[in-house]
Amino acid sequence: MRQILASLGALALSLIVTSAFAQSEFGSPEVERRIAALLRRMTVEEKVGQLVQYSAGAPTGPGTGRADYRGQIAKGQVGSFLGLTGAAETNALQRIAVEHSRLGIPLIFALDVIHGYRTVFPVPLGMASTWDTQLVEQAARAAAKEATAEGIRWTFSPMVDIARDARWGRIVEGAGEDPYLGSAMAAAYVRGYQGRNLADADSLAACAKHYAGYGAAEAGRDYNAADMSERTLRQTYLPPFESAVKAGAATIMSAFNTLNGVPATADPMTLTKILRGEWKFQGLVVSDWQAIAELIPHGIALDEATAARKALLAGVDVDMESGLFQRHLSELLRAGAVPESVLDEAVRRVLRVKFALGLFDRPYAPESSTGAQPKLDPAHLELARTIAERSFVLLKNEKVSGSALLPVSSKVKTVALVGPLADDASNMLGSWPGKGDPKNAITLKAALEQRMLQSGGRLLYAKGTEINIANDAGFEEAVKAASQADLVIAALGEDAPSMTAEAASRAHLDLPGNQQQLLERIAATGKPVLLIIFSGRPLALTWAAAHVPAMVQAWYPGVQAGPALVRTLFGDTNFSGKLTASVPRSVGQEPLYYNALGTGRPADGVDLTRPPANSAEKYVSRYIDEQNAPLFPFGFGLSYTQFTYSPLKLNETTVSARALNSCASSVRVSTTVTNSGTRMGWEIVQLYVGQHGTSVARQIKELKGFRTLVLAPGESQNVEFQLSRDELAFWNIDMHHIVEPAEVSVWIGPNSAQGQTAHFTISAPKL
Ligand code: BGC
Repeated sequence: MRQILASLGALALSLIVTSAFAQSEFGSPEVERRIAALLRRMTVEEKVGQLVQYSAGAPTGPGTGRADYRGQIAKGQVGSFLGLTGAAETNALQRIAVEHSRLGIPLIFALDVIHGYRTVFPVPLGMASTWDTQLVEQAARAAAKEATAEGIRWTFSPMVDIARDARWGRIVEGAGEDPYLGSAMAAAYVRGYQGRNLADADSLAACAKHYAGYGAAEAGRDYNAADMSERTLRQTYLPPFESAVKAGAATIMSAFNTLNGVPATADPMTLTKILRGEWKFQGLVVSDWQAIAELIPHGIALDEATAARKALLAGVDVDMESGLFQRHLSELLRAGAVPESVLDEAVRRVLRVKFALGLFDRPYAPESSTGAQPKLDPAHLELARTIAERSFVLLKNEKVSGSALLPVSSKVKTVALVGPLADDASNMLGSWPGKGDPKNAITLKAALEQRMLQSGGRLLYAKGTEINIANDAGFEEAVKAASQADLVIAALGEDAPSMTAEAASRAHLDLPGNQQQLLERIAATGKPVLLIIFSGRPLALTWAAAHVPAMVQAWYPGVQAGPALVRTLFGDTNFSGKLTASVPRSVGQEPLYYNALGTGRPADGVDLTRPPANSAEKYVSRYIDEQNAPLFPFGFGLSYTQFTYSPLKLNETTVSARALNSCASSVRVSTTVTNSGTRMGWEIVQLYVGQHGTSVARQIKELKGFRTLVLAPGESQNVEFQLSRDELAFWNIDMHHIVEPAEVSVWIGPNSAQGQTAHFTISAPKL
């Protein structure tokens, strides 16, 4: 174990960032002077140009796409591009901006570098399942190194939208349903992308998106309205953005949706009052793809000019792709509809980011790269494998003939591998594969073949079906392979490009096509089945959970999918991932999340596995035809070993609200975690808090801390968490963010549904 840690440590060293860039570092007095000098020389058209962004690569939304922008660059009419990659390609345009435009202001080249660039890591929901901010930071650092080598200095990542509804396709792009974990992940990505100093040649400006409330799309349908109280907005949806800002995020992207009736791309409350006023954000805000033009269908602008004016005045600085700033801002200014001071401020923010990136001093990317797919860095590949291994969530591992199905026993001589995702390299690269090449992705089939060859075993492979077809012609072959095997591995799930991420909301959370029928046919052979789920969202696999002895949630693991899976399944390493999004039993439970408010009619103690038998069972908050509990709760994940938690210890049973509010006091809570099994393992220890007696109803439980332990068999470790103002304050009835007198319950455990409990009191000031 120590050896494993040592090797991980060495790998980590080069990719870890100790101190991050801060908001206060934007715009030193010297930079501000240079910006002011530039502004004095700029024409209105040149100012507007800094606020214009176009796609110069493959479009990632509806509309325009590629055009020849060279003339516009020479006239200073474009400030940034997205989608263009390659040092030679970006430098060619940069040369026009720097050497042929009047003021020589450099361009920024942006791209969606989401979960890797050339080396593709697991999708963000998988990365979050590691609960390991250092690994995530290292992945972001590696992606930044690769992308900057090809001219990119700005990524539209991280997506920090809280997602509580698995129907929403973009749940795959974020960290899941929890604001505390989401905030930790947001900061980790920002640190990783931006490095120690944004001016370093291998730093990428981060972009926290989509601000705000995009993940709360009603009914999980992408782009749909989000409507919520300010309390919910502030306590659930905003914290990851604030965390990204605190970590120094250079940019924020405004969202497509309406938030409480106001399109997020024209919302002064979020874009100006909160972001700039309260959080002191110094960077720039870019709209999402054509989101400014979408203010017209949203109904708050009758024409393009009004849409442009509303977005700018609300606080959007850069217009991605709609062209409305370019077409209308100069005229609006001349007509007095937009004050020049507002335009200048937006330009200042853009220039600040360009200065911070060092683009005025070093506008060009080194042209060592040929544009051809470079050989992947072995350190990045090793990191990709490690993160993949740590992202898998073991959902179920039952005994079959006396011993747990996993790790795969040496008695297993013949394995049947079935399913459309067993040998699908493209899908392993997930929802935003960047410049990843499927040729570099090792599938489960390829890795398993090698493993079985080494062990003298036999692998039978039959695809069985496609991801989304009705034709069952392949079933017989799959059933035949299964019947001959000691173990059947079914690799099933969703198609990443078409069923996950943007514009890919699903009303059904089952296995697409006829994969469920294939699974049932295979299970009917009586052979032990391990189901591996490749998906970008939790799926309601209720039948499988009842009928299949072992289940692994693999997400989309990236380039090292196969080796990572084989090493984990065969026990070379352990499972350690835990869910960051609740897995539903059925779609009707959505939105489903653990940190919900209670009700006046809780269903505690009622048997929800059967319909209500009397009024006491009926008039509670429940479904008459489904349980309330998820199939697998937030924070859940099994291991090859077991961990036990000792009763909790508190250093205080009463603490005053005043002392907490003034940060003069805190409560310490601890437990001892023991590896009571026979293998080394990682345990993600989770701390949850609930409060009663407060001025507003509080969530039954909320995650307020987590820690990863690595324990050898028999080893114990004490874990202590501190509960202070940050963990205990909330938005009270008067919308003050304070700690109130309360009875507090604390849980420390392996997931959101289990754990040891203790209680303490936050006392009121004496009258
Ligand atoms: C997406 C953003 C993305 C942008 C640029 C939009 O369609 O919503 O997340 O960053 O395109 O590709």
